[in-house]
Amino acid sequence: MCGIIGYLGPHQASPIIIEALRRLEYRGYDSAGIATLDNGTLNRRRTSGRINNLADSLVQEPIRGKIGIGHTRWATHGLPNEQNAHPHNSCSISVVHNGIIENFKQIKENLLTQGYEFSSETDTEVVPILVQSFIDRNAKPIEAVHQAMKVLQGQFALCFLFAGEDDVIIVARQGSPLVIGHDQDAMFVASDALGLAGLTDNITYLEDGDSAIISQQELIIFDVNQKPVSRSKTIVSIDSAVNPKGNYKHFMLKEIHEQPESISRALESLFQSGQLNDQTVDQICQQPINWVNLIGCGTAYYACQIASYWFEKLIKIPARAEIASEFRYRNAVIKPDDLSIFVSQSGETADTLAALRYARDCHSNNLSILNNPACSMERESQRALSIHAGFEFSVASTKAFTSQLTVLLSLGLIIGYRKGTVTHEEFSTIKSDLFELPKLVDAVIGLRDDIIKIAEFISDCPAVIFIGRGLMYPTSLEGALKLKEVTYIHAEGIAAGELKHGPIALVDKTVPTVVLAPSNDLFVKTISNLKEIRARGGPVILLTDSEGLVQAGDDTNFALTLPKINPLLTPILYTVPLQLLAYFTATKKGLDVDKPRHLAKSVTVE
Ligand code: F6R
Repeated sequence: MCGIIGYLGPHQASPIIIEALRRLEYRGYDSAGIATLDNGTLNRRRTSGRINNLADSLVQEPIRGKIGIGHTRWATHGLPNEQNAHPHNSCSISVVHNGIIENFKQIKENLLTQGYEFSSETDTEVVPILVQSFIDRNAKPIEAVHQAMKVLQGQFALCFLFAGEDDVIIVARQGSPLVIGHDQDAMFVASDALGLAGLTDNITYLEDGDSAIISQQELIIFDVNQKPVSRSKTIVSIDSAVNPKGNYKHFMLKEIHEQPESISRALESLFQSGQLNDQTVDQICQQPINWVNLIGCGTAYYACQIASYWFEKLIKIPARAEIASEFRYRNAVIKPDDLSIFVSQSGETADTLAALRYARDCHSNNLSILNNPACSMERESQRALSIHAGFEFSVASTKAFTSQLTVLLSLGLIIGYRKGTVTHEEFSTIKSDLFELPKLVDAVIGLRDDIIKIAEFISDCPAVIFIGRGLMYPTSLEGALKLKEVTYIHAEGIAAGELKHGPIALVDKTVPTVVLAPSNDLFVKTISNLKEIRARGGPVILLTDSEGLVQAGDDTNFALTLPKINPLLTPILYTVPLQLLAYFTATKKGLDVDKPRHLAKSVTVE
């Protein structure tokens, strides 16, 4: 959320910063800005809208300087206009910020009474003015930042320039991630390593409470107690991210198409050459587990919901899925013998990270299932498993979801087998069905033309209902989320058995229902719900297999026939056409799929 870039080196800063901001645009794209220092003087340019607006403005009227900071914003406080765009300045300071300053009102009132003036509606503007107030009392830049850090509450990643200090960037972080990149003759700052793709792969991850003085000669890092500390450098391979869209029009479509490979990679990581292959899983299997908590946000939460069904079935212990933002505040009772599993693509989601910290405070065994390497949750978890999906750029998550599901199902299967709740025969069957999955996902992607016809139909509808039973219920929630995110059509996922308890009142001829009904033990019941919808004039789009299609008859407006698959694996397979449906509906409506309105990838604020 909000992308930050800093550069200090031998070249003009603004073109480098603009390119890096483009790579971070998935973190927010409602306004952007840049500040540089040239012969000690601060220059600043800000524009509303996408990075292109800023880039165009800099082409028309360049700003000079070999040191600079840049920002792409996801608004929290104040409209997404130029006045509220970052960098925010005081008379001798420029700063970009990711996060939320929770006590900004008190700080602002205090600074106003001291005679300082403000020009934006943002929480961020208190930062340069607060730091300025310490500079005005003769503090050196790093001292002023340290004093400000003691006052600021909330989450922040901050990157400062100081007038007259042409060789210094100062950074500070609390709660929001920040990395420093090293090159032979240049130094960089970014809100995540991806921003530095193509610039450097030599990265230092700052820890919570850290601050740093970055100059060409040296890097001095201070810990949470503001004492000098050394932090190691890591080589992060991010080169492949430089031109990642390939021949696809959108990241979302590319990543949907990548799923056969990403699912294979997830499987290989756990069952290499047919053997169980993971020490982390071994360690988990050796622990007593009384209860499983599965915690995440958004799509990752739906992965948790699906996994809770799998875990109860395969391990025969209670499993509950929790929304991280609820879990962290409701004083959930969790015990040391519980296994708390945190699911997050980015590994930086503020609520999931806070929930992990809560579980740690309760001494619960914990495991994070992550995609982004070297993220905060990896560092803070007792154990972590990677889903190996590769960088996910699309704001709407696709391949990360199916890889999360693949890892969660494999994990449940392995634990169940080791604990004796899954027989050898069941284990072998499910495992070999899992290895068949990439081929079947590929076949479903091949249904594209049929899905486009359905997308054309629903693109004119005011709302869409998704229903399913059992594992298809949380799958319907994910289908609805995907559609709302990228098409802005209202969509609801509903447990099919709940329809009669209220939601069926929504059905009419303009509101179609997507019925997820693989031919399994709940099929007949789901089809009864389909009939109830048809009886009330609601259009129906049925997703089933060939057996299901025969049984359901032809009382549908559209039917999509998916391969028949082990019922346990249906959430993974049935998600793929829902992703494509959302994608093609959005493109039919002419929307920018990769930059859905109001959204950003990696939600690092609450
Ligand atoms: C939806 C989506 C979000 C994320 C959620 C959690 O397509 O991407 O709902 O799933 O913000 O993000 P992570 O997995 O990074 O914790």
